[in-house]
Amino acid sequence: MKNIADKIFYVGINDRVTHLFERLWSLRRGVSYNSYVVVDEKIAVVDTVEASFASAFMQNIERATAGRPVDYLIVNHMEPDHSGAIVALRQRYPQMKIVGNAKTLQMINGYYGISDNVVEVADGSTLSLGGETLTFYLAPMVHWPETMVTYGNNAKILFSGDAFGCFGALDGGVTDEELSFEDYYDEMVRYYACIVGKYGSPVQKALQKLSSLPIDIIAATHGPVWKRSIEKVVRVYDELSRYSAQRGVVVAYGSMYGNTAALCEEIACRLREKGVEKIKIYDLSSADISEVLRDIFLYRGLVVASPTYNNELFPPVRELLEKISERTVKGRLFGFVGSYTWASAALKRFGEKAEKCGWETLPCCVEMKQSSLSVTDELIDTFVTAFSGAL
Ligand code: FEO
Repeated sequence: MKNIADKIFYVGINDRVTHLFERLWSLRRGVSYNSYVVVDEKIAVVDTVEASFASAFMQNIERATAGRPVDYLIVNHMEPDHSGAIVALRQRYPQMKIVGNAKTLQMINGYYGISDNVVEVADGSTLSLGGETLTFYLAPMVHWPETMVTYGNNAKILFSGDAFGCFGALDGGVTDEELSFEDYYDEMVRYYACIVGKYGSPVQKALQKLSSLPIDIIAATHGPVWKRSIEKVVRVYDELSRYSAQRGVVVAYGSMYGNTAALCEEIACRLREKGVEKIKIYDLSSADISEVLRDIFLYRGLVVASPTYNNELFPPVRELLEKISERTVKGRLFGFVGSYTWASAALKRFGEKAEKCGWETLPCCVEMKQSSLSVTDELIDTFVTAFSGAL
C-alpha cells in the first residue's frame, strides 16, 4: 500500500510466482496487478487484482481505508487479472456499488454471477466522491471491448487500464519517482507487442480522445505509476500503435541441423557490413517468442528463414508468421530465405502468406538446397544489398 497522490493510494500486488501471463507469455521479471483507492467523502476502489492474490489485496485496502467501508468499485477492464478479486471485495463490502459500462456489467454477471447493486455508466458519465470527481471514457479494444478509463479531475490522474502498462513487477517502489522508465522500457514494448499489439487502431482512437485532458499521473493496471515519464510513455504507445519502426533487422529462423542457421548468420554479418547497426537474431525453436515479437514491433526489417517441412514451413516459423498477421503489423520489410533437401516449398509458402497479408517483400529471395554450398556469394550479396537498401 502506498500513497501516490492526495487521497489516492496504490493497493496493487506484485506477482513473482506466475511464469506465463495469460498462460502464454513469459514473465521473467514478474508482473504487477495495479489497483487504486480514492479515499474521499466516498471511497472508490479502481480495478482489483488476480483472484489468487485477493487476500493480500484486501489487506492493502483495509490499510488504505483505515477500516472505512468501500462505497464504489470502478471496473475499467474485465480481464480476470484485474477483475479476479471482485467477488472477495463484494463479500467484504456487500453495500459497495459496482460501476461499469453496459458491456462490463454483462461480463461481471457472466464471470461472477453479480447483477445487483451495480451502476451503469456511459461515455463521459461522472461520479462525485465528494472532493474528487471521476469521469469515465470508453476505450473499446484497449484491450477488450468493454475497456474504459477513469479520470480523476482534481488529481488529474488517469486510471488507464492496460494502456501505458508493462510487464515487470515493481522493484522497490510504485511510481517513476522511485523506479526508472528506462528499466521498464523493454517490458513495455514486449507487453504491448504481445497483449495489445493487435489493437493499434483502437489505441490511436483512445489517444486522440484523451489528448485534451490535462494529465499529471497515469495509473495503469500493470507497471509503474507514471508521473515524470508521461510524455515518454505516451510517445511509446503512440509509436507502437502506429506500427512505426526504427532502422534495424530481426533475423528469425528455423533450422533443424544448423544449415539454415549458418546461412542466416552469414546474412546478418553482411547486413552489418552494409551499415545496419541494429540486428537481432533468433532461433525460433528456442527463442522466447515474446522477445521476437517485441523486436518486430521495434524494427523495420524482418528476415525469416525456414526449411521445407512436410511440404510446408517449419512449424515454429509458421507460428511466428501467424502471430505477426494476427497483430496486423504494418510497414515492415520482409526478406525470405527458404531451404530444402529434395523438394522446394518454403519460399512458395512464404510468398503465399506475404501476398495474403499484403506484406512488403523483396523480389529477391535466397534459396538453399541442402547446405550453403548451393548458395552463391552473388545471391547473398544481391539479397543483402536490396534488403539494406530498402530499410
Ligand atoms: Fe491486464 Fe487485458 O488485462
